[in-house]
Amino acid sequence: MKHVSRYPLSISLLHWLLAVALIGNLIIGWMLDDREDLLALHKSIGIVILGLVSVRVANRLRVRRRLPPSTNPAGTPAYLAEKTAHHLLYVLMIAIPLLGWMKTNAAGHVASCFGLFSLPTLLPKSHELSHWLGELHALAAYGLAALVGLHVLGALAHRVLKSENILPRILPFTRRVEQKMPTSDRG
Ligand code: HEM
Ligand code: HEM
Repeated sequence: MKHVSRYPLSISLLHWLLAVALIGNLIIGWMLDDREDLLALHKSIGIVILGLVSVRVANRLRVRRRLPPSTNPAGTPAYLAEKTAHHLLYVLMIAIPLLGWMKTNAAGHVASCFGLFSLPTLLPKSHELSHWLGELHALAAYGLAALVGLHVLGALAHRVLKSENILPRILPFTRRVEQKMPTSDRG
């Protein structure tokens, strides 16, 4: 039996598009201070991210039967760490823009995307809620940054500790690597 040991193209493209957008919006978030122009840009990019994450989740469900098996043996600590990290990354990718949207509403504003359209208002104006949602949004953003750091370290660990390059698995437009799997019906 043959299996393709890389992710489908749609998974790779969305992975890198969102990696750039998320890291970019983290950096803009930390540069905000009281700059209204940057805040509008930050919210707009965040709303685009929320849309792209929805597409990513739907796409992942669509191709779930075509995903390459993990390089970590099932049940090992490395396998559990990998699955937990990937699930948590998804949770944060969804929670962060939702918290930002709710914080904006609680602060008495509508969440507008590049002035083209606005998201529905989810919450009434509340100073206290706005404060706590802002804190949660910031905390979750720090969590995402830390987890992305661990995620990259994980990929590096495969390279250094196991002499295994897993990066091509998620790179778009690399040549497909076909591997022969041991078969039980040989001979
Ligand atoms: C915000 C940034 C990032 C997020 C949210 C993220 C998230 C994810 C997720 C959820 C997966 C699992 C596949 C999927 O469901 O899409 C994945 C796979 C992967 N990511 Fe990232 N990633 C980010 C940045 C990076 C960076 C900077 C690298 C560079 C080393 C990287 C390397 C990989 C690799 C090599 C895989 C494949 C793992 C495997 O062998 O199965 N990621 N990433
Ligand atoms: C996934 C995308 C997003 C990321 C990674 C992100 C990240 C950040 C970061 C790092 C900060 C600075 C936090 C701090 O240290 O004080 C911030 C602030 C903020 N973000 Fe986001 N954000 C995202 C999406 C959004 C969205 C969609 C909205 C609203 C529509 C939003 C609204 C805000 C607001 C209003 C602040 C200022 C918070 C305050 O002053 O307490 N963000 N964001």
